[in-house]
Order: sequence, then structure tokens, then C-alpha cells
Amino acid sequence: MKVLLTGARGMVGRNILESFSNSQYELLTPSSSDLDLTKEHSVIDYFDKNKPEAVIHAAGLVGGIQANIARPVDFLSKNTSMGLNIINCARQEGVKFFLNLSSSCMYPKDINSKLTEDLILTGQLEPTNEGYALAKILCTRLCEYINTEDGNDKFKTIIPCNLYGRYDKFSVQNSHMIPAVIRKIDDAIRDSKVAVDIWGDGEARREFMYAGDLSDFILFACENFEQLAQNTNVGLGLDYSINEYYQTIAKVIGYDGRFEHDLTKPVGMKRKLMDVTFLEEINWRAKTSLEKGIEETFNYYKSEYNDK
Ligand SMILES: NC(=O)c1ccc[n+]([C@@H]2O[C@H](COP(=O)([O-])OP(=O)(O)OC[C@H]3O[C@@H](n4cnc5c(N)ncnc54)[C@H](OP(=O)(O)O)[C@@H]3O)[C@@H](O)[C@H]2O)c1
Repeated sequence: MKVLLTGARGMVGRNILESFSNSQYELLTPSSSDLDLTKEHSVIDYFDKNKPEAVIHAAGLVGGIQANIARPVDFLSKNTSMGLNIINCARQEGVKFFLNLSSSCMYPKDINSKLTEDLILTGQLEPTNEGYALAKILCTRLCEYINTEDGNDKFKTIIPCNLYGRYDKFSVQNSHMIPAVIRKIDDAIRDSKVAVDIWGDGEARREFMYAGDLSDFILFACENFEQLAQNTNVGLGLDYSINEYYQTIAKVIGYDGRFEHDLTKPVGMKRKLMDVTFLEEINWRAKTSLEKGIEETFNYYKSEYNDK
């Protein structure tokens, strides 16, 4: 089956290419310059020419907290227009299935329990990434509306937790927590620093999945599309404290300095943990340990960034 993979050059997309390398699917993998999803006519032309039979929508404008705060207009409008164009065109063309990637950022903030799929739109969003979250909610609901109106189950959404892994971004301004900490601790080793600072007390807890596990799930999801729920959380169902992430990264990459907590700095939400009951029901679980995932990510970082 010919499957259009959007975002094929991104972190998730590149992991999908690896997981799908021996699969039954022929992936179409245009870059954003081959196919700009914010332009409706480009999407229609692409479908006309290439006739994909299914879509995995893994493209998006994705960034860390600083980028989201600085450019909410882009995060809202680009992610919305990409989603609207590709979802509506895929519906028009009668694809066999459409797998939409959302994000746990679309859940309300300050939920004191595990995040279950029915909590979408039940409370205030985290203000620092509200634009991104609104776009994710819109696309998720659009998939639901299409299934309801068309009387079938072809448009489904998966909701990954935070991710890290090979092909991640390691820039100081624009990276997520794990690559940022890998870079910070690696720099500390190189600069012989005896201490590394951690914002806050380090007790806040976060759930991070290795991106290679997500892409394995995406292959499983394509092969078992009918079994999927309308919206499916994809996470570990377990989390670690920020201190534990720092300690594990230090152990894996060989830093034996100390950590100092800067209690004047903000810490964000205390906890954000996905409910993965549905994954347990269908007997799927992520297989990469935190240590192994960090080791793979660090090796990628060394080969791509440090050895050049
Ligand atoms: N990273 C995470 O922690 C995380 C967590 C949960 C959910 N997700 C979701 O997973 C998906 C992929 O994230 P990622 O981390 O792989 O992001 P990424 O590494 O930043 O990659 C984003 C991809 O989107 C493509 N893209 C951006 N603008 C486009 C446009 N106008 N037209 C066509 N393609 C465009 C880029 O294409 P080019 O490279 O060709 O420009 C790039 O391949 C997103 O939907 C994101 O919300 C990510």
C-alpha cells in the first residue's frame, strides 16, 4: 500500500522510516519544499499526481517552550492549516486510513490524575503552548467529525507523550528537555565543570518515550488500524523526576560532577502522565529502557554534532 508520510525528515518521521523499512508499505516521503502542507493547492496537486492510499500525518511546526512563547501565531496557524489541508484532501480522495499525530500538550493543565483520552477540552490549556495545543485539538476533533459524518472509522488520532531519541534537535534555544540536558552535561564534561544547575528542585515528574518505540507503535497502528480507538494515548504510563533524568544522563555519558538546584527558576507542571490503559488492553508496550534510549540518543548526538 502506498502511504504518504508527512514530516518524513523530522525526528518522528525519520524513526518511522527505520521502523517501516521491512514493512509491506511503500512510503511517499516529500519534504516541506516538495509539498508545503500549508498550501491547499499543493496538497491537492500532490494527491492527484501520487495517489497515496493512506496517510500518516507526522509533519508539524514543533518547538520548545521558548519558540512556542515567541511565535504563537505560527504555531496555531501553520499547524492548523497543515492539518486542515491534509485531512480534508485525504477525505476527499477516499484514503483507506489516516493516522493523525497529536500531542499530550493538548490536554488541560493541572489535571491531578493520569491523562485519559476523554479529558480533551475539559479545562484550561497550558498558556505557554496554547496555540500549538489548539491546532492539535482542532485536527483531532476534525478526524472525529469526519468519521461521524461519513459513518466509518478511517481517521484516527494518536496522542504521544514527550519524545526523545535519534534525530532529535540539540540546539540550545529550540530543543526539548532530554536533548538539552545531554548537551548541557556533555558541555560540562568538556569544560571540566564541577557542577551543573537544575531549574527548581528537580522533583517535578515527566514522561518521555523513546521515538523509536513510537515509530514501532505507528507500524503496529497501521497494521491493526481497525483495533485502534478513535484517540489513543501513546506513552509509557510511568514517569521519572527531573533529577532522575539528570542522574541517568550523567551516568550514561560519564559525568561525575554535582547538581545544584536553582530554586529561583520556574519548574512548570508538577506532573503530566498519560493513561495507557488502551495500550495495555491491546497488549502493546514500549520496549526501550531509559538508559538504552539515552545511550542511543547520546551516540547520535556525538556523531552528528561533536564529531564534525
Ligand atoms: N517531538 C516530540 O516530543 C513530540 C511529542 C508529541 C507529539 N509530537 C508530534 O509528532 C509530529 C512530528 O514531530 P517531530 O518531533 O518529528 O517534529 P520535527 O522533528 O520538528 O519535524 C517536523 C516535520 O514537519 C515538517 N513540516 C513542517 N512544516 C511543514 C510544511 N509547511 N509542509 C510540510 N511539512 C512540514 C518538516 O519538514 P521538512 O524537514 O521537510 O521542512 C519536518 O519534517 C508532530 O505532529 C508533533 O506534534 C512530537
